[in-house]
Amino acid sequence: MFSAIVLGLLAATVSCSPIQQRQLGGTSSTSDELQNGDCRDVIFIFARGSTEPGNMGATVGPATCDALKESLGDDAVACQGVGGAYLGDLGSNALPDGTTQAALDESTKMFNLASSQCPNAKVVASGYSQGAAVMAGSVGKLDAAVMAQVKGVVLYGYTKNLQNGGAIPDYPEDQTKVFCNASDGVCSGTLMVTAGHLTYTTDVPEAASFLEEKISSATSTGSSSTTSSAASSSSSSASGLGGLFGF
Ligand SMILES: *[C@@H]1O[C@H](CO)[C@@H](O)[C@H](O)[C@H]1NC(C)=O
Repeated sequence: MFSAIVLGLLAATVSCSPIQQRQLGGTSSTSDELQNGDCRDVIFIFARGSTEPGNMGATVGPATCDALKESLGDDAVACQGVGGAYLGDLGSNALPDGTTQAALDESTKMFNLASSQCPNAKVVASGYSQGAAVMAGSVGKLDAAVMAQVKGVVLYGYTKNLQNGGAIPDYPEDQTKVFCNASDGVCSGTLMVTAGHLTYTTDVPEAASFLEEKISSATSTGSSSTTSSAASSSSSSASGLGGLFGF
C-alpha cells in the first residue's frame, strides 16, 4: 500500500514531464485504430502504466506506436490501447498478478479481436509498469492460434520482472524483450519506483527495432530468429529514490 502511494507520486511526475510534449505531433494518449475497424499489416497493442491517461498513456505507449509508424508506414500500423476494464489504478499493482483479472480479460479481448478481425495481420505488443504485468498475465494464456499471431512483445519497467524471471510465462523468450533500468526498483520484485522507472522513452528506438525485426523475420521464414535478449539489462539494484523515501 505504502509503495503504491510512492508509485502515484512518481506517476504524477511523469505526466508533467516534457516527455509528454512528444505526443503532440503523433499518437495521442488514446488510440483505438483496431477497435475502429482498421486492419493493417501490423497491429500494436499497448497497456499503459498506472495513472497514465487514455488507453496508451503519455510516455512509451504513444512513442513506441510512433516509432513503428515511422519505420513501417502510418498506414501499415494500427495502434490499440488496452482501455475499458483496465483501469490502471494504483491499488491493483499489489494484487498477485500485479493487476486485476478484468484487466487481463480486457487485454485478451484485444488480442482476440485482432485475430478474428484481422487474421493476416502481425501483432506486436507492449506494456509499461502495471501495463507490463497486464501483458505478462494475458499473452501466454491466449489460444494457440491467437498467440501464434503475436510476433513480439516489449515490456518497459516490468513489475513482474523478478517473479517471472525476465520473461512472459508460456510465451517464447526469443520474442520477448524486457527494458528494466538497473535502478528501477519495480524490476527487482518491489513496487518501489525510483528514477530509473521514468527513463524508458530513451529505450523506445531499440524496442521498436526489436519488434520490427520480429515482424520481418515472421514475414520471411516463420520463426528463425536467434536473438534472445530478454532481461539483458535487468539487475537487482535497489538504490535510487527508494533510499530517499526511507525504504
Ligand atoms: C537509468 O536511470 C537513471 C536514473 O536513475 C538514468 O540516469 C539512466 O540514464 C538510466 N539508464 C538508461 C540506460 O536509461
